[in-house]
Amino acid sequence: MTAARPLSGLRLVPAYLDRPSQEALLAALRAVFARAPLYTPRMPNSGKPLSVRMTNCGPLGWVTDEAGYRYQPLHPHTGQPWPAMPDLVINAWKSLAGYPHAPESCLINYYGGAAKMGLHQDRDELDFEAPVVSLSLGDTCLFRIGGSKRSDPTRAMRLASGDAVVLGGEARLAFHGVDRIIAGTSTLLPEGGRINLTLRRVTLPQQRSGSVRGRAADV
Ligand code: SIN
Ligand code: MN
Repeated sequence: MTAARPLSGLRLVPAYLDRPSQEALLAALRAVFARAPLYTPRMPNSGKPLSVRMTNCGPLGWVTDEAGYRYQPLHPHTGQPWPAMPDLVINAWKSLAGYPHAPESCLINYYGGAAKMGLHQDRDELDFEAPVVSLSLGDTCLFRIGGSKRSDPTRAMRLASGDAVVLGGEARLAFHGVDRIIAGTSTLLPEGGRINLTLRRVTLPQQRSGSVRGRAADV
């Protein structure tokens, strides 16, 4: 087996959020969940449920169902706009992204103990110059990342509560996924499991639209 070579633009920031900041972010997310409940997303075409539950905050939310992957301004179940991004989330983008424009989307995934996410690329955005910034809360996961081809060798990394990851440069289009959640590794979430936030730009600067149809990708 070929070893995965280092990826330029992949940055892990362990313990980016200290425990009080994790608690503050969790409280802000509970307020988001009250207005934009977590729901079970479905795969394009087949409608097969994903094992994570999802919601979003910010102007655009990433959604998936039988009609495909896309960004849209409204929660698919409530029909209401996504709540605003908490300040902590915007500040994380400002300090980590190295990109001059604000994030437009914050996808929130909740992983119960048995949830995982298959290898995929984030490519439903028009702007690949901006990185994807990820924040993790709760139980540690085994995160897997490879290269820009599905067949490229991959490596696994543990992401713990408070860790941040930046996927920029060459890593922006790297295949990635979550192999599994390691139960009992954090006391942050009383219900157990893991929350992951992915912050993204969606549109090109100076260009905004209500809904952006994604390009081919898979989760
Ligand atoms: C994702 O790729 O949407 C989530 C990654 C993660 O949970 O760390
Ligand atoms: Mn992703």
